[in-house]
Amino acid sequence: MEETSLSSQINVAILGATGAVGTELRDLLQSRNFPIANLKLLASPRSAGRTLSFQGEELLVEAVSENAFNNVDLVLASAGGSTSKAWAATAVEKGAVVIDNSSAFRLEPQVPLVIPEVNPEAAATHQGIIANPNCTTILMAMAVWPLHQLQPVQRIVAATYQSASGAGARAMEEVKIQAQAILQGEDPPTESFPYPLAFNLFPHNSPLNEQGYCEEEMKMVNETRKIFRAPQLRISATCVRVPVLRAHSEAINLEFNEPMLVAKAKELLANAPGVRLVEDWQANYFPMPIDASGRDEVLVGRIRQDLSHPSSLELWLSGDQIRKGAALNAVQIAELLVAKNWLKPPAVAVSH
Ligand code: A2P
Repeated sequence: MEETSLSSQINVAILGATGAVGTELRDLLQSRNFPIANLKLLASPRSAGRTLSFQGEELLVEAVSENAFNNVDLVLASAGGSTSKAWAATAVEKGAVVIDNSSAFRLEPQVPLVIPEVNPEAAATHQGIIANPNCTTILMAMAVWPLHQLQPVQRIVAATYQSASGAGARAMEEVKIQAQAILQGEDPPTESFPYPLAFNLFPHNSPLNEQGYCEEEMKMVNETRKIFRAPQLRISATCVRVPVLRAHSEAINLEFNEPMLVAKAKELLANAPGVRLVEDWQANYFPMPIDASGRDEVLVGRIRQDLSHPSSLELWLSGDQIRKGAALNAVQIAELLVAKNWLKPPAVAVSH
């Protein structure tokens, strides 16, 4: 297959098509007019035989299998780390490029970890797999990178307020069911999370390391360092689940080696691609998950001088975890590959 026909006729598979991110991927491929020739919807055997609509047609969901990757150029995977580990190599061997939303490959040195607004050039180096960063990492990087370009950030301290959507479609449903149960005076069922999330919050439920940081917090540390190409960047995070259905928020403290004017930071963020400055100081109106839900931009505001440190700023953000935190970023990577002609595993030409 020639490169020109590849870029205008791309065979795409969504692995995890029935999930929260998979659903958003399908919507985005449609609404952004991704140059798609054929779309395959892959999920677990539980979903085989279901149909989902795409561009006015009902498409059958298939159970993932080796043969499912035949004639596929691009896989958008969002079915969890173990599913990605099980199938990514097969997809690449069959000639596809995999954009993987799980944490399975993010820190592998040969796998680019890409946010198109931050490090698009990294995508050029892929060897078949490109990793989509963790959602809280993407949202934080979108707000910090424009400032870091002017004055390198020395230290980041973040606290997150993460919605149920980060744990998938079932977890979002569970929060609604929990809320109904609590309002009826019943015990809330807890399956996706270790504790009830409705009318509650708890530190992120990922495994803890011996220093007391959970996996989600360490993703923010290690992935930001990789994306920024700043291996020594000092970062500390506290990740918290809150009873919000969709869209994460973050309180971020940034330390520079000399003061950055608040007005300068606002100007940079107001002009940063993919970021929207949302501040009405009179009305005390700032980014909220309810406003960020379903939007492409990361909403950033409440930018102020840190009273406790002359070279530090405080800011607040909300961003749609399923969109920019996951599906949108993956589709933007796919669009970048097409635009730059980087979707070109050499095996595709001979194996088709
Ligand atoms: P299924 O619906 O058949 O379980 P979410 O993150 O919203 O929970 O979605 C997870 C997605 O990953 C779903 O599409 C789910 O499919 C899919 N998935 C989960 N486990 C597997 C598996 N072992 N093989 C393929 N797809 C899987």
